Amino acid sequence: MERTYLMVKPDGVQRGLIGEIVARFERKGLKLVGAKLMQVSRERAERHYAEHKGKDFYEKLLQFITSGPVFAMVWEGDQAVALCRALIGKTNALEAAPGTIRSDYAIHTNFNLIHGADSLENAEREIAIFFSEDELVAYDKAIQVWI
Ligand code: PPS
Repeated sequence: MERTYLMVKPDGVQRGLIGEIVARFERKGLKLVGAKLMQVSRERAERHYAEHKGKDFYEKLLQFITSGPVFAMVWEGDQAVALCRALIGKTNALEAAPGTIRSDYAIHTNFNLIHGADSLENAEREIAIFFSEDELVAYDKAIQVWI
């Protein structure tokens, strides 16, 4: 069982798409184990996007992610990291496959609605940046046995 970190970015919050986005992961059969609306500080954003430091879009990315509240989430499930990335779609909305979140709702690469951890290692690192242990809830879902 894997845990992954997802975050509805400020554009998704502003456009009122939190519910729509959460519903997609729920319907897939993943389990929500942590969630909160929060304002990301510059310091937290720098830690989160550390691997992109030096890239030409880095400053723009930091400004964007700190520009308004985000909806931070932790989802659990078999192959959760890869599954969530598949549901999100490619970074560039033009290249995102039809039916993915970015294909259905995003136009620009810099306003692409949602972040999803790209590896198990990054998922663990990012969860630790945004959540404390006591904010994550362990519970059983009766339906789990059917999927
Ligand atoms: S890379 O270089 O391939 O690792 O970059 P990529 O995975 O495509 O994107 C990393 C994150 O940077 C965001 N991004 C951008 N933001 C603003 N402007 C431009 N041009 C841009 N290009 C990439 C992209 O949305 C990724 O953010 P997250 O939150 O990880 O999805």
